[in-house]
Amino acid sequence: MDGDGETAHPRSPVAVRARGEVFRIVQVQGNLFVCSRANGNCCCGWAEKGRMPFDNTLWSDEWQRRKIRNRLHLTFTGCLGPCAVGNNALLQIHGRSIWLKDLNDAALVPLVFDYIQAMLAAGVVLAPPPLLVSHVYERYLPPPTSPFIPFGEALEEPGGLSHLDPVCLMDVDPATTRSTVEYQGRVIAFCAPSCKRAFLADPLAYLLS
Ligand code: FES
Repeated sequence: MDGDGETAHPRSPVAVRARGEVFRIVQVQGNLFVCSRANGNCCCGWAEKGRMPFDNTLWSDEWQRRKIRNRLHLTFTGCLGPCAVGNNALLQIHGRSIWLKDLNDAALVPLVFDYIQAMLAAGVVLAPPPLLVSHVYERYLPPPTSPFIPFGEALEEPGGLSHLDPVCLMDVDPATTRSTVEYQGRVIAFCAPSCKRAFLADPLAYLLS
């Protein structure tokens, strides 16, 4: 169990090649994509089109507060497609796409994150809670029954989770970064002072095995 009382997920880095170099990218459970006017969309968040206007911090503050950024990434996007039913968001978690619509009440944001955290804790996709049932629908056709085909390269040597910022999961070199802290006998490195501050405020929420 980790600091949020959630079941620890076996996270492991995969080797990903880019620009001729190999990078370690840590696998996470999911990503929440929020259609945002600030990110160049055409309808969601537009008061003049009858949608609830919002600042991205409405979502990002809640995401930060929950300390789940190393399990679920948050992305603000341009138009996701189904503008008519916006405000829209797309949650991808545990390999499933969950479309959220008509998010025109700020009180729905914590409910979405409660739902996300329940699924992170359970390790499986759950039915939406009663207050979100009318905000969830199937936009994609059902996935065909097919075996899981892993893509990408396996890490040649198990690199473990050392040399990774435990808050944002960026690769970081303890020898060169200015932000480190000694915690329980090991040196933990951070990509930036902001990650170090977040860690020191609540180490157990971020500590990786
Ligand atoms: S503007 Fe949000 S889905 Fe098109």
